[in-house]
Amino acid sequence: AKPNSLKIMISGAPASGKGTQCELITKKYDLVHVAAGDLLRAEVAAGSENGRQAKEFMEKGKLVPNEIVVMMVRDRLLQPDSQEKGWLLDGYPRSQSQATALKELGFEPDLFILLEVPEEILVERVVGRRLDPVTGRIYHLKYSPPENEEIADRLTQRFDDTEEKVKLRLRTHHQNVEAVLSMYEDITIKVNGGVSKEEVFAQIDSALENLVKQKKATAGSV
Ligand code: AP5
Repeated sequence: AKPNSLKIMISGAPASGKGTQCELITKKYDLVHVAAGDLLRAEVAAGSENGRQAKEFMEKGKLVPNEIVVMMVRDRLLQPDSQEKGWLLDGYPRSQSQATALKELGFEPDLFILLEVPEEILVERVVGRRLDPVTGRIYHLKYSPPENEEIADRLTQRFDDTEEKVKLRLRTHHQNVEAVLSMYEDITIKVNGGVSKEEVFAQIDSALENLVKQKKATAGSV
């Protein structure tokens, strides 16, 4: 790996804006976006045995077992592009055991970003979310509408994006978040995720610019 490459984790409740911020972060910092939920949905779409099992948990808003998730994330982080460019890990770890497993495999982040969003906003974000299957971009019918009708016509919705299911996902999040945070206390930044996506990014961007400066200074002093 390049000595200066960034290793970042981003976490937050369902629909707190992780994926949206990852689009903006990777555009500027050219990191490899590794999203546990996207990797799982790809397995579900491929119809693999892991995907079939994972879907049962995802439909209930529960954590998919570590036997499936840990190696899947590890394999993606070990790919040459993640090693070369650095990585942005989204939606992992979601439990203390996942954090410990990653540490034992030798993956340690430089920064842990926590998006904080008032709960009443989250449900509205979930039910209005739409995805473009062609570009992978995330939209929202009210906050981030598609640019034209051609895109609007092809937008899809996730199978777990209903009000009922997001409440289950939120419960799982609350059960686990403190334990995960306790593992990264010294490198955590808490970001107000309840403002516009540009304003959220400005907060993250300034933390990342500082980190890049620090890394350059450390590399220069050896
Ligand atoms: P995952 O896919 O990770 O879902 P999640 O954590 O519920 O998060 P989301 O993808 O729903 O939201 P997001 O924070 O990315 O928000 P987004 O940017 O899209 O996980 C799904 C399932 O997989 C889990 O329930 C679990 O079963 C399983 N799983 C995943 N990881 C696992 C793991 N490590 N271990 C075990 N199981 C695992 O934004 C949401 C909407 O809001 C969008 O429409 C967007 O346009 C809009 N929006 C974003 N930012 C703003 C803003 N600032 N203002 C207004 N609108 C905004």
